[in-house]
Amino acid sequence: MMSADAPTILPLELNAVSLTLGDKRLIKDISCTLEAPQITIIIGPNGAGKSLLLRLCHGLLQPSAGAIDWRGAAGRNPSPHQAMVFQRPVLLRRSVQANIDFALSLRKVPRRRRRALIEEALTRAGLKRFAKSSARLLSFGEQQRLALARSWALRPQVLFLDEPTASIDPAATHVIEEVILAMREEGTKIIMSTHDLGQARRLADEVLFLHRGRLKEKSDAAAFFAAPKNDLAQAFLRGELLWWQRRELTPP
Ligand SMILES: Nc1ncnc2c1ncn2[C@@H]1O[C@H](COP(=O)(O)OP(=O)(O)O)[C@@H](O)[C@H]1O
Ligand SMILES: [Mg+2]
Repeated sequence: MMSADAPTILPLELNAVSLTLGDKRLIKDISCTLEAPQITIIIGPNGAGKSLLLRLCHGLLQPSAGAIDWRGAAGRNPSPHQAMVFQRPVLLRRSVQANIDFALSLRKVPRRRRRALIEEALTRAGLKRFAKSSARLLSFGEQQRLALARSWALRPQVLFLDEPTASIDPAATHVIEEVILAMREEGTKIIMSTHDLGQARRLADEVLFLHRGRLKEKSDAAAFFAAPKNDLAQAFLRGELLWWQRRELTPP
């Protein structure tokens, strides 16, 4: 659990990180440092490597070359301080509140503290009336809000989100964006991929632009959206990169 003076695991440092699966080099030589407390948004076309990069950073995949290090004072044991929300929510076949309770118990939060954390998280995510419902009966958007509420209850220092609003409607998306902003207010570092440029503009403090496994640009959001430095990022913002990339698959 996070408290104001707890030692931090940040910054996160990637040093020449590559990932090869089978005979494909999917992440290529990425170096960057991600600091608290900004919202870092990863954008790029389908297949650019956004999900793989998030999984590498969260420790679900090991790099084939290079290193990923948490440089903060608590960086030797980063796992208890991070959480991740996936594109498809992973929920237990239990009630909504039990899903959060279980996550808190795994983090060894005392039972007497859990009730208030659960209530607060459900209220924030607009799910309080579903507290006793089965999580599996929620709509997709509600399930995603529950996955986020569960992460929020843990008060991680760092939260990874992989296209959390990819297939949900604008109202649920709005709630999710509000929760993300509230988490940043409370000091959680957010590292999130999205295919939604409007969402990137609304949330990002910093943008990473990925293309075919390479980090092409890392910029402050204001500077990026005003005028990206990278020509592929310019094409992507103009909406050209999706079809343009198909042609590129055939080498000249
Ligand atoms: N387990 C895997 N084995 C082989 N290729 C993979 C695997 N996972 C992802 N890829 C490939 O890696 C590339 C990047 O994938 P991904 O990170 O999911 O892209 P994004 O999230 O940006 O759409 C894609 O071309 C995808 O097909
Ligand atoms: Mg993805």
